[in-house]
Amino acid sequence: MSVLTYTRFFCFKEEERMITKQKGTYDIYGNDAKYYNYINNVFTTVANYYNYNFIRTPIFEASELFHRSVGETTDIVSKETYDFVDRGGRSVTLRPEGTAGVVRSFIENKMFGDVNQPVKLYYTGPMYRYERPQAGRYRELSQFGVEVLGSDSPMIDAEVISLAYRTLEEMGIEDITVKINTLGDIESRNNYREALVKYLEPHISNLCPDCQNRFKTNPLRILDCKVDKDSEILLKAPSILDYLNDSSEKRFKSVLELLMELGVDYEVDSNIVRGLDYYDHTVFEFVADIPGLGASNVLGAGGRYNNLVEKLEGPATPCVGFACGIDRLMIILQELNKDNVVQSDLDVYILAVNEEEHMTALKLAQDLRWSEIKCDYDTLDRGLKAQFKQADRLGAKLLVILNSDELSKGIITVKDNITHEEVRIDENEILEYIIGNL
Ligand code: HAM
Repeated sequence: MSVLTYTRFFCFKEEERMITKQKGTYDIYGNDAKYYNYINNVFTTVANYYNYNFIRTPIFEASELFHRSVGETTDIVSKETYDFVDRGGRSVTLRPEGTAGVVRSFIENKMFGDVNQPVKLYYTGPMYRYERPQAGRYRELSQFGVEVLGSDSPMIDAEVISLAYRTLEEMGIEDITVKINTLGDIESRNNYREALVKYLEPHISNLCPDCQNRFKTNPLRILDCKVDKDSEILLKAPSILDYLNDSSEKRFKSVLELLMELGVDYEVDSNIVRGLDYYDHTVFEFVADIPGLGASNVLGAGGRYNNLVEKLEGPATPCVGFACGIDRLMIILQELNKDNVVQSDLDVYILAVNEEEHMTALKLAQDLRWSEIKCDYDTLDRGLKAQFKQADRLGAKLLVILNSDELSKGIITVKDNITHEEVRIDENEILEYIIGNL
């Protein structure tokens, strides 16, 4: 093969190749789309009841934002971010999570000066993490979440946790455990870190290579290790709960009491430390007790981050928030067979075959739709028999059967698609008839 034919051959092949989705991403359509919208609708309704306002921050931000907030040594920043240099030479990152962007926006837009405090925000949208894709773990993932900025009250910790808990319950996911812990304040955490390092030092060579690195950079995160989590060494490690100073202990007890008052079932788990650097005090995870999900059974997580605003050059502002994984919820709801989510039967299907009937169908459909009636008609020039079949496939409750002869006399036939009863209606009364018979 000459160089020319060789090049042509491969250029041709290149042009012909079908372009497929990127690893770790997927298209949301069909029933998936119904679940996706349902989850977002339930969440936004609940967030609204709790008096949270919507915020949308950009999908890409300066890389430095995530380095300084999520933390340079965290897995998310050190191994998983999508970083690139834009055409203007700026180092930008696709957001791996939502908290950092909200905090950046809070500071940049001086929301700390708003009369309404605390600032209660909710968001939903895609995040990007270069992870090893598997069921419930994607490179483009969707989250919904809330952030409350400007209150240190344990009531807000309890409110945020119960908001997430009630949202999951409202979706029909009942077997959820709230695993909760506290990282205490800086003093408590420093005392604990010292004790943990002392305890782990003689054992460190028996832990996984990641833990050996964490020992140098952030020893607390060893407790969160997926590889070593059941090892004797970690099971016998000292607990943060024994190193809390009085104020941190009092604060944690108060959050637990409030959760009890709100009827939120929780389990204190002193191994929860979370994989992001910005947390202090309360940290929590929502774990689904549904078999077969493996490590993807963590539906959501969050905690308090009282030092992050200051770290990003804003005024000292105590904050707390959570985020839930929409993709995981989609899997669970489908497994739980939530039929009500996907059922979206049509109210009315209009059958028409000639031009005059199609014109009437078009106008009648508009009137029905603006009367909040879900309706459709044929646009593929199907025969009547095929249109009846299509109406059945769409689950139409009523059929409007247009017929030119009847139309010339001002009459329209309506058939109940369940009882199969047919009635002839004056065309001027068709709207009222349909509204009254659905
Ligand atoms: P996170 O634990 O990194 O926290 O993520 C929250 C949830 O997002 C997880 O519990 C999980 O359900 C989902 N998730 C994370 N990674 C993936 C993935 N690769 N594929 C599918 N789902 C995933 C945060 O993002 C914090 N910003 C939460 C927060 C808000 N803390 C305070 N405020």
